Amino acid sequence: MTIVCLPGDGIGPEVAAEALRVLDALPLDVDVETHLFGGAAIDAVGEPLPRETLDACRRADAVLLGAVGGARWEAGAVRPEQGLIALRGELDVYANLRPARARGVDLLVVRELVGGLYYGRRGVLDDGTVFDTCEYHPAQVERVARRAFELARRRRSVVLSVDKANVLDTSRMWRRVVTEVAAEYADVTLEHGLVDSVAMRLVTSPGDFDVLLTENTFGDILSDVAAGVTGGLGLAASASLGDGAPAIFEPVHGSAPDVAGTGSANPAAMLRSIALMLEHSLARGDLAHAVDEAVERAIASTPTPDLGGVATTSEFGDAVLESLAAVSVA
Ligand code: NAD
Ligand code: IPM
Ligand code: MN
Repeated sequence: MTIVCLPGDGIGPEVAAEALRVLDALPLDVDVETHLFGGAAIDAVGEPLPRETLDACRRADAVLLGAVGGARWEAGAVRPEQGLIALRGELDVYANLRPARARGVDLLVVRELVGGLYYGRRGVLDDGTVFDTCEYHPAQVERVARRAFELARRRRSVVLSVDKANVLDTSRMWRRVVTEVAAEYADVTLEHGLVDSVAMRLVTSPGDFDVLLTENTFGDILSDVAAGVTGGLGLAASASLGDGAPAIFEPVHGSAPDVAGTGSANPAAMLRSIALMLEHSLARGDLAHAVDEAVERAIASTPTPDLGGVATTSEFGDAVLESLAAVSVA
């Protein structure tokens, strides 16, 4: 098994270092290769997703990604985020699973990841008008909807499809296709909601939701809201899955320039992303469970500043490793 690690920028390398320590301690036969990506790759070779990095990802069984971006590259002709969007597209990881859990809350955002505004036609008209286009083909909706229904079956069997069907044609098609797919999943309840009021309900009653299925941009925003109501971005992990390997595992958060370099970033989101990788790419649900439990214990015993504590990134990592050792997993 080969895992490609793309640490990226800001706190990306800081939380990735903890992930690699934990991975190294697990009873697994895996090779880890680290490659240039994001702003770090722009600095080194002038592009955020170098050919060599993409080729390594294609050969890998899974990709573990830190975060990219930062003020240094914002004004550049080429930006770190373009590398991330290109990588997701190249690997066709269309289903982005973003779980959010806290007391009384257990929801899963299934975000379409390789379509919509991020990948539609864009440009500048002669009069200076700038445009980005939200485009979806029905087949793109169908495959991510199917994935959401499959996932819901293993949970509480309720899918809320989130759209803006009162305004957007893409949303009206989205709603029609999701409803058609639902007919094949009679055991799963399908509901529809408009994104504005769903965003409000996510804040006021997050415990009401099971699976939220939505398009790329709405999913980006709603998953940060879901993270916010369940402990913050420091805890929110994600898995980006296609139809085969490799999948990408990455925290929901970004490079957090405001805490980068302080040694205080919370590595929990990254470590939970390792658990998702163990479950989805390495078929090691047992180890995934052990890592999740160890992270849970570290959140209680060794919280980082974002959780109201004083622990450093590596102290949190130490606590996770100690817990794993205590149950003889590491
Ligand atoms: P962000 O997620 O980086 O940070 C938002 C807030 O959450 C900040 O206050 C930050 O300190 C805090 N935070 C996030 N993760 C944390 C952690 N693990 N521990 C402690 N605190 C944490 O979002 P932003 O500030 O809007 O964006 C910063 C940069 O990151 C931008 O360049 C953006 O494009 C990029 N970004 C990248 C990704 C990615 O690589 N997947 C995701 C989101 C944003
Ligand atoms: C995320 C990030 C990315 C996105 C950016 C950095 C391209 O915000 O993974 O949520 O919008 O998908
Ligand atoms: Mn985001």
